[in-house]
Amino acid sequence: MTNILMVCLGNICRSPLAHGLLESKLPQDSFYIDSAGTGNFHIGDPPDHRSIAVAKSNGIDISNQQARQFKVSDFDAFDFIYVMDQSNYDNVIALARHDSDKEKVSRILKVVDNVGTKNVPDPYHGDLSDFEHVFSLLNNACTSISKSLLA
Ligand code: 4NP
Repeated sequence: MTNILMVCLGNICRSPLAHGLLESKLPQDSFYIDSAGTGNFHIGDPPDHRSIAVAKSNGIDISNQQARQFKVSDFDAFDFIYVMDQSNYDNVIALARHDSDKEKVSRILKVVDNVGTKNVPDPYHGDLSDFEHVFSLLNNACTSISKSLLA
């Protein structure tokens, strides 16, 4: 089993989309995907209704996800940890115990060549078009990740 964790700040907008997208592109018998937030404000909450709506309109159901907070033992449980932006990166790296923890962590847009930013913008204070933009960025990234894992 290959275990992959998606991380953002709240675990209600961006990482639930990345979680659902990558899960939809990989066989579930050999890949386990999860997501978490570095913050604790939304623990136990479902994804933001706008993330649920954008995923649903693209054929992906993320409504059963529940937000949880990133924890140090995630470094042991997961092979790859993809964060959405530099702030998430700094927060996760601050919890790393040694270099092998740090080596698991990368910004998810680093897997995409032709993208203007390496940070997935936080859509929380935006509108549905911001969530659609996030979905599109994450769809490209997850396609690239799944292709390299299945190659
Ligand atoms: P996310 O977005 O990190 O993509 O889940 C956010 C959700 C909630 C908050 C910030 C970002 N918040 O401050 O509550």
